[in-house]
Amino acid sequence: MTIRSAPEMIDSQYTNYLDFILNNYNTIDRKEDNRLQWWKEAKFGLFIHWGLYSKLAGRWKDKEINGLGEWIMYFGKIPIKQYEVIAQEFNPSDFKAHEWVKLAKDTGMKYLIITSKHHDGFAMYHSKCSKYNIVDATPFNRDPLKELANECHKQGIKLCFYYSHAIDFHHPHAFRNDIFHPNRKTWNFEVYLEEKVKPQLRELLTNYGEVSMIWFDMPEQIEPKYSKQIKELVLSIQPECLIGGRLGHGYEDYVSMGDNEYPEVVYDFPWESVGTINDTWGYKEYDINWKSSNDILRLLTTIIGRGGNYNLNLGPTSEGVIPKPSCEVLKEIGEWMKKNGEAIYGCQGSPLTYNVAWGAITTKTNRIYLHVYDSENEEIELLGICSRVKWAKILSNNTSIDFQQIIEKDRKEIKVKLPQNIRSKYITVIVLEFEDEIKVEMTNEVAGYITLVPSNATVHRAKTDSRLQVDKRGIAINWVNVEDWLSWEIELTKPGDYEIEIITRTQKYNARWKGEWFGQHQFLIEMGEQRINCKLQEDKRVRPTELYYYDNIISKCGKVRINKKGKHQFKLKPIWLNTELNLGPKVCFVQLKKLD
Ligand code: GLC
Repeated sequence: MTIRSAPEMIDSQYTNYLDFILNNYNTIDRKEDNRLQWWKEAKFGLFIHWGLYSKLAGRWKDKEINGLGEWIMYFGKIPIKQYEVIAQEFNPSDFKAHEWVKLAKDTGMKYLIITSKHHDGFAMYHSKCSKYNIVDATPFNRDPLKELANECHKQGIKLCFYYSHAIDFHHPHAFRNDIFHPNRKTWNFEVYLEEKVKPQLRELLTNYGEVSMIWFDMPEQIEPKYSKQIKELVLSIQPECLIGGRLGHGYEDYVSMGDNEYPEVVYDFPWESVGTINDTWGYKEYDINWKSSNDILRLLTTIIGRGGNYNLNLGPTSEGVIPKPSCEVLKEIGEWMKKNGEAIYGCQGSPLTYNVAWGAITTKTNRIYLHVYDSENEEIELLGICSRVKWAKILSNNTSIDFQQIIEKDRKEIKVKLPQNIRSKYITVIVLEFEDEIKVEMTNEVAGYITLVPSNATVHRAKTDSRLQVDKRGIAINWVNVEDWLSWEIELTKPGDYEIEIITRTQKYNARWKGEWFGQHQFLIEMGEQRINCKLQEDKRVRPTELYYYDNIISKCGKVRINKKGKHQFKLKPIWLNTELNLGPKVCFVQLKKLD
């Protein structure tokens, strides 16, 4: 079977990203394969974007250049000759490998990924196959990756290299570089692969001791045979080295989400989310949109709670200094991690079948960790857990917590009393220790709410030109054909009136997506005999704290009356879709709220 990359899923037989992963990843998490073990245990890593672009810091010829800092050569259309000159002044005399690695360690991160060569093509280490590198082309005359490698090995942090294998603005035969090579007559990716990618990977895997992962990027245009060759090369030199989630075509060891993205649901295959601490990866002097330590901790716990790993990025300056606000945030995260690390390292995502509104859940052996962000209520309720709780405590200080548990045929309920000071600055972790292995029953009903996510839906596709997909995050996308629809089977424990809301996602910052929210889509909801016509309009806009790029739009869709408990079919069928920009509504979930 040919291996497709995510965008090519469209027109393929897969409507759900989960099915796609399970059918197309030929290497992912093979059971006999222990290579991923350290990574699954580690959970939290540091990402560092550092290169010539850090020197420009987001400005070219005194103009602020839009877009990500490390892409400045591209967005500023800086000709190669002019960009090369930056190297002559790149002298990070304040760079201290010891401090960078110690920062990662003190923050509770277990691995470090640093850009060895980004899209600009400049090697941040001593490469023998291209003079365009930090030792030969700058006055610095040191190999910072060598120094980082030594420190990582000394301080017990796993060393990983980012390597841009498909895009290289400097090399004439790589992707996305036409504007830099206007006089190029021929183009042959293999020339770039053989001349630069393979020799440089050999150097990185030979001269820096143990390398725990190569983090590839932007595989959109690469052919499967080249992804395969790259993987084989890496494993032939260091068989234990992990293949990052963006090599392309299923040759990766795990799934990498889009930048700053994570799924709506828990995934039990290995996946990661990479995130920025402000809005850029490479340093931009005027990007001061720093997330707070609390924001990052919410992201971290949400991601671990959905089964992923989190790599948080820093963009140091060209002097080798990590911006102070980032250091302060990391310091506070480190303090939290020292007390609460047990609820992160080696943990799996929530065993429950629904998301909780008050925070996130992680689990390990016989324990469940409740990461409480804030809660207006005095207690929190967990439904569907069949195993018996032994005790409940606050993880950071061992204080016992009161709880009640009911285990009956139709009712499995744990109520945990929240301490008074739960609205303190940071997330409070409550541990529940169970008598034996944790067993859970399917339930999509949480304290009066039923949440229906597209990744658990049955996708009904139009006979022709069906485009509806459930993407990596579990969101329904490309809903532009009115004959595509979704259905869910739901189990209700209480009859009564339910209010229906449809929650769609819209982009907040990125200009490319501006105007994406056109709304007004019309749907028909069917439940048993009942039919409800509704229009998706912006009744409320919420900005979940853990989402920095998106807003959720809540549309109120009316009420259904359910006369008996038990199983019901819920159908969501479009009547009219606004297909402006060919996008349609991005449906995150449908919520049914019980009315008293
Ligand atoms: C994107 C960007 C790249 C960045 C990466 C980090 O792929 O193109 O500049 O390094 O995200 O995840």
